[in-house]
Amino acid sequence: MNATNTRRARCAGIALLVLPLGISCGETQPGGGLGPGPEPEPEVVLPPPLDPLPSVAPTSTDRFATSGQCGQCHFAGPEATVMHDAAGNDISPVYLWRSSMMAFAARDPYYLAVFGEELVKNKGREAFVEETCTRCHAPAGSEEQAQAGGHLTFDAMVAGDGKEAHLARDGVTCTLCHQIADEGLGKIQSFAGGFVIGYEREIYGPHLVPKVDPMQLIVNYTPTASTHITKSEVCATCHTVLVPIMKGEQRVGDFLEQAPYLEWKNSTFASGAPCATCHLPTQDASKVDISSPIAKFPAGLGARKPYGQHRFSGGNSYMLRILADNVEWTGAAVAPEELEQAATRAEAHVAEGAVVSILSTSMQGNALAVAVQVENHAGHKFPTGYPGRRAWIHVRAEGAGGEVLFESGAFDATGALVDRAGARLDRSDAVLPHRDLITKESEVQVYEAVAKDAAGAPTHRPLASVGYIKDNRLLPLGWSSADPWIDWIGPVGVSGDGTFQAGFDRVTYEIPGGAGVRRVMVELLYQSVRPTELDTLARVPHPAAVRFSGMASARPSIPVVAAQAQIEL
Ligand code: HEC
Ligand code: HEC
Ligand code: HEC
Ligand code: HEC
Ligand code: HEC
Repeated sequence: MNATNTRRARCAGIALLVLPLGISCGETQPGGGLGPGPEPEPEVVLPPPLDPLPSVAPTSTDRFATSGQCGQCHFAGPEATVMHDAAGNDISPVYLWRSSMMAFAARDPYYLAVFGEELVKNKGREAFVEETCTRCHAPAGSEEQAQAGGHLTFDAMVAGDGKEAHLARDGVTCTLCHQIADEGLGKIQSFAGGFVIGYEREIYGPHLVPKVDPMQLIVNYTPTASTHITKSEVCATCHTVLVPIMKGEQRVGDFLEQAPYLEWKNSTFASGAPCATCHLPTQDASKVDISSPIAKFPAGLGARKPYGQHRFSGGNSYMLRILADNVEWTGAAVAPEELEQAATRAEAHVAEGAVVSILSTSMQGNALAVAVQVENHAGHKFPTGYPGRRAWIHVRAEGAGGEVLFESGAFDATGALVDRAGARLDRSDAVLPHRDLITKESEVQVYEAVAKDAAGAPTHRPLASVGYIKDNRLLPLGWSSADPWIDWIGPVGVSGDGTFQAGFDRVTYEIPGGAGVRRVMVELLYQSVRPTELDTLARVPHPAAVRFSGMASARPSIPVVAAQAQIEL
């Protein structure tokens, strides 16, 4: 059997997975599907989906060790009496970290899909793509391979058996983060994965005079007190994403893809509330400071405080649930229930980031004017991070019998924005403008960053982006337009809106024929992945994109409610 036949044979087994999107493996697929798109797209032949990922074997090098080795002492489990909170929850570093997106940074099927798409679109420049896309998502493997010469490849990451491959699949692993040196932190050269890892085998932590011999003996590292590890500038090394803008082989600039750190710098949180305050919280559910021994071996260690919980909750509950659905495929040694819990924590975390309120209602002619305020309580923009995220206001006005009289921001079963008749408002080739006043059901206030390519068209591809067409994400409290980075992080497309301000935005809804309205309900919805992006990825001829499309079609990208308010009239 030749190679093509083998592929087709394997392909047949997964046809069911991809069927809901109307594409079947190895067959051609006519374009379109998105309603009134400008032109039918060309046909594509899809390869078979990416095979399951191998697990992480215990691996050590002269600099790194995989997380399981730290788990010998820094994983609690049900038996240990230490590293549990008052409610009995396991709050050990390894337990919490292993169900976070940081642990899955290299095994995230969405990341792998976009990585695959970049490989397809950058034929002949694979090395450049692989070097760029593995630096932060597979940092220990990428460092290790760079030291040995060359760079970490996509294939090594998803199928390799070398030390660098196992380290890669361990994602943002313990020994990577805890060895980031206090060198250049906060400076531009430290961004875009510019962390520096030494050879001293010092593991930095916040606690003074740690007991060193158990770690030296068992894993040959020395725990070392250094306050720099708690600083936002450590997170900034990977959470300030700059990717090269290329013209042929020439690097002509940088595209700032993500900037939670620079956004945070331009907020009230920059004085006194580093990233760890919210992302490694030191208080339990009843707001009591946690105090616990930080290792289960040796027994009898004294309690330490503050004790940071390695939750790293963000907004991506969607991907955590996809991982739970497919945990065997990821090769990770973590139970789906843990990922479900992490997803629930992420939803609660998003809800801490926003508040909506109805400021006033009044009749303006025959329209009911409803003034809505959305506040950002996060330590950076809302939403922040990857530009695939968006949040929007969903307003519904009902009459005396509960009948819907007006609705803006409804979504369909795929999570796409639709009007009340079900017609899709989302288009991958069009951008919904920022608004201060909404008078029609087809108008929606969507807070998002939309990147553009060199031709000015919207794109989700990091390596095709040259800037933003729109960035009206909610600004954090304390935002100043005099910030030194403002040219990079300033909002785009909001000029003329005087009520788009530091910490909040106000939008007025004028509901035509509003006299009959008895109840107005307002929600702020949060979505990690736009359905238009899933539509695009479903047509990308790369195994990782085919795999992710199958997973995503089994779990639509339904938004979560970040905040809500309602009023009876
Ligand atoms: C400088 C570090 C850095 C580099 C380089 C980088 N990423 Fe990321 N990437 C991140 C971080 C941090 C996040 C998570 C942000 C968030 O959750 O909002 C992320 C998130 C993503 C996501 C979203 C994942 C999800 O589950 O929602 C995709 C897709 C992605 N990256 C693809 C890529 C590709 C493709 C490349 C190479 C072109 C790349 N990244 C290079 C840091 C990086
Ligand atoms: C992204 C960076 C990062 C990663 C990855 C990470 N940590 Fe931490 N760790 C921190 C920070 C920051 C603190 C300080 C938290 C605080 O007390 O404010 C910390 C604290 C600790 C402490 C001291 C106890 C405490 O909470 O104060 C231990 C032990 C620890 N980490 C172990 C681990 C282990 C084991 C892993 C891998 C499963 C890990 N860490 C992964 C950043 C990280
Ligand atoms: C044999 C048990 C053991 C193993 C294995 C182990 N540690 Fe530790 N770790 C300890 C002990 C004991 C301390 C000090 C506790 C104290 O003094 O309160 C500690 C302290 C730490 C600290 C806090 C240092 C400080 O000053 O704040 C960090 C961070 C840490 N370990 C990370 C790791 C990482 C990462 C690994 C995996 C490579 C690891 N440990 C493996 C036992 C262990
Ligand atoms: C070595 C690079 C690196 C460092 C250092 C790092 N991160 Fe991350 N982080 C990532 C990557 C990559 C992802 C995205 C994984 C994905 O979604 O595929 C991520 C994801 C996250 C997420 C989850 C976002 C979500 O989508 O839900 C949070 C929260 C986060 N990081 C916080 C932190 C904090 C706080 C620090 C500093 C203590 C930190 N990170 C340091 C690389 C890093
Ligand atoms: C005051 C609390 C607070 C502080 C401080 C804070 N964050 Fe967040 N973070 C949040 C909330 C709430 C969310 C969820 C809403 C959002 O995406 O903006 C979040 C989300 C994130 C996400 C995930 C976005 C996604 O796509 O899922 C990343 C990454 C992140 N924060 C990184 C950081 C970094 C890096 C810092 C420090 C420079 C930081 N955060 C400081 C509260 C905080």
